[in-house]
Amino acid sequence: MKIGILGGGQLARMLALAGYPLGLDFVVLEPAPDACAAPLAGHIQAAYDDPAALEQLAELVDRVTYEFESVPASAVEQLGESLPVYPPANALATARDRHHEKTLFNELGIETAPFAEVHDLAGLKQGVAQLGLPAILKTRTLGYDGKGQQLIHPGDELEAAWQAVGQVPCILEGLVNFDREVSIIAVRSVSGEMAFYPLAENVHRDGILRLSTCLHEDSHQPLAEDYARRMLEHLGYVGVLAIEFFQVGEHLLANEMAPRVHNSGHWTIEGAHTSQFENHLRAVLDLPLGSTQPLGHAAMVNLIGDLPDTKALLGLENVHLHLYGKAPRPDRKIGHVTVREASVDELQARLSNIDNVLQ
Ligand SMILES: Nc1ncnc2c1ncn2[C@@H]1O[C@H](COP(=O)(O)OP(=O)(O)O)[C@@H](O)[C@H]1O
Ligand SMILES: [Mg+2]
Repeated sequence: MKIGILGGGQLARMLALAGYPLGLDFVVLEPAPDACAAPLAGHIQAAYDDPAALEQLAELVDRVTYEFESVPASAVEQLGESLPVYPPANALATARDRHHEKTLFNELGIETAPFAEVHDLAGLKQGVAQLGLPAILKTRTLGYDGKGQQLIHPGDELEAAWQAVGQVPCILEGLVNFDREVSIIAVRSVSGEMAFYPLAENVHRDGILRLSTCLHEDSHQPLAEDYARRMLEHLGYVGVLAIEFFQVGEHLLANEMAPRVHNSGHWTIEGAHTSQFENHLRAVLDLPLGSTQPLGHAAMVNLIGDLPDTKALLGLENVHLHLYGKAPRPDRKIGHVTVREASVDELQARLSNIDNVLQ
């Protein structure tokens, strides 16, 4: 069985790594010549919306998935004419646009921060009058790792914020004074089997995820699963879906969702019976889903910018290194480490060992 992946970055690479033991082969469609999944897969080097390249991919593979949500809708449409593409096009259309996404959350009874649509400077002024400040202006599409966002404080020039995001369609969102950020990784197969991983608690720095820790028996787990189930069922979803939340007291405010495997689920590689990558493939192939139960107390630390001291990291017990084969560059995710320990205390101690190495 051959799987096509739109995008050839680290998520495609880890999908391939999870798929080989299941006897799967992979072809990635990715314009970058040095894509980090390319050494592990066939590589069609072309734009995502190149009709000839899409035709070639459709001939080579049995089904198609993707590793990012900004895939052109036309690509999914063309591929969908000849073979199954999962997650479904409606999930992609929703998740790529923050306004659609937040509107759907609310329609399904899932709370979000208050938000307003912004088309122009006048709309921004109106949004500010409605929501107050501080607030965050976010581009509707193409934002990631905090890019395409502008925090607006009381007294700030609104025109400058509008310029800073590039004067493109946006949403303005109330700033949430959250207790924690958490995310759920959910998965649904073609025949409708569903599974949910334990919530991860996420710590961001400069808008980029740094640390995800698997939570055990968290009191918010049932609500997060309920919200994720509503979304999976509404979309007739297939594959892994990640939803990020702001936790405020008993409430979970949905921030965004990703119709793909997600950075806050990397801990599952060594920290759960079945990784998110394997379960995504199982779901897409309509195989029975694997157990999402955690193994011990697990966390994931992103490696951002510089290559770490590999020897020092591997000298730490119970630490697993994942380098993506990407050239170091400021603010670039070039790898991660996962760690699994028998207790929360041991996990905390190991995380501070890791911090010391990474400083
Ligand atoms: N409305 C908000 N209130 C408080 N913090 C926010 C808000 N929106 C975003 N953030 C912070 O910025 C991070 C990145 O924003 P997010 O909307 O998830 O965009 P992306 O992950 O696509 O860059 C969030 O994880 C959170 O830490
Ligand atoms: Mg996010």
